[in-house]
Amino acid sequence: MSFDLSVISHKNIILAVTGGIAAYKSAILVRRLKDAGFNVRVVMTQGAQAFITPLTFQALSGNPVHTELLDPEAEAGMGHIELARWADLLLVAPASCDTLAKFAAGLADDLLSTLYLATNAPVWIAPAMNQQMWAAKATQRNLATLIEDGVHVIIPDAGSQACGDVGLGRMPEPEDLARQVTEYFHKAQRAIAEKFGMLAGKQVTITAGPTREAIDPVRYISNHSTGKMGFALAAACYAAGANVTLIAGPVSLDTPNGVQRKNVSSAVQMLNESMQMLKQGCDIFIATAAVADYRVAQVAEHKIKKAGDELNVALIKNPDIVATIAEQEKRPFMVGFAAETRNIEEYAAGKLVAKKLDMIACNDVSRADIGFASDENAMTVFFAEHYHLDKRDLDKASKQEIAQQLVEAIHDALHHDPAAEDDF
Ligand code: C5P
Repeated sequence: MSFDLSVISHKNIILAVTGGIAAYKSAILVRRLKDAGFNVRVVMTQGAQAFITPLTFQALSGNPVHTELLDPEAEAGMGHIELARWADLLLVAPASCDTLAKFAAGLADDLLSTLYLATNAPVWIAPAMNQQMWAAKATQRNLATLIEDGVHVIIPDAGSQACGDVGLGRMPEPEDLARQVTEYFHKAQRAIAEKFGMLAGKQVTITAGPTREAIDPVRYISNHSTGKMGFALAAACYAAGANVTLIAGPVSLDTPNGVQRKNVSSAVQMLNESMQMLKQGCDIFIATAAVADYRVAQVAEHKIKKAGDELNVALIKNPDIVATIAEQEKRPFMVGFAAETRNIEEYAAGKLVAKKLDMIACNDVSRADIGFASDENAMTVFFAEHYHLDKRDLDKASKQEIAQQLVEAIHDALHHDPAAEDDF
């Protein structure tokens, strides 16, 4: 599963490191958070600096490390209040017993405890300590107070400890912590999209990639479609709050986060899965797949042996998936794609009508710089006549940006009421 990094890339995390041997893991944690796309600033307590140097964190985070509350130089750069405002999340890892006690008591005698009081960002703590100290009544009392105050406590792992004890108190591995933080932001983002996104609550089905039409058990007819446009659209529809099912032909792409994927091979399988999705309820159907127009009439049961100079394979027409779905009684909003080398407008308008589509996005595949295997695309979007919407030229951009603009076009058509216009 891959994450859509665009959500994460502008999120700011303050990683506060306190005094404990697990501080060495925090260095790797910075790396993992940066890998995930976060901006990271590190705050260190006095105790932490006995275990690891600020220079390590400065190099890894790419930002100055904050250690002092009353340092005029630091305050002139990014003071503690600014830092508190900058944060989208305050992550304290490792969190020592002393830090828990300070937070629970509301002390404000160093940079971290002051930050804790001054920020309105969510606070996560990953306590790490000797198992006896973890179990101590005072520690458990402080934890209960912090949980009540809304702090998210990451329960320590059990296992062997640096002090030789065995038990609860190990800081979880950096990869695990970074994953939890990433998931948190994705869930928060999703909750917003489900409420306010352009396609909030819509059921979207997208076909993508090529189809493979078997000739015999080892050979097939296919095409060069990579599925990139369909996968980018799936991610964009999900980000816009839709529930998305991607019916994918054979492609080597990761499934976008949150998207349900059904793998198929042939056009007939793709149609069957599409009909299935229609039965389950589908509001928007987007056909980006490069479906083979023909399939082999009689697939050979065994590998065809090399024989004469010529081999004739009879082909029969495949079903037109998008046109079949558009024919159904309870049809969704239908979006098709067209790849043309000339007379783009004329052919696109023809397909829009012939396949009974609501919208068609057409690209000029004669251009070498866009299309199939490229990461970029440029398109012209046409709407069915009854929408009374002008065609839209989407200038050359990444497939992600084009996908976003297509989502906007779908949203606009769905919310465009031509009847209201007629009243003027
Ligand atoms: O007719 P043409 O292949 O140019 O139409 C392209 C559009 O129709 C695309 O949206 C494609 O996914 C869809 N299509 C389909 N089933 C087919 C052929 C094309 O859904 N058999």
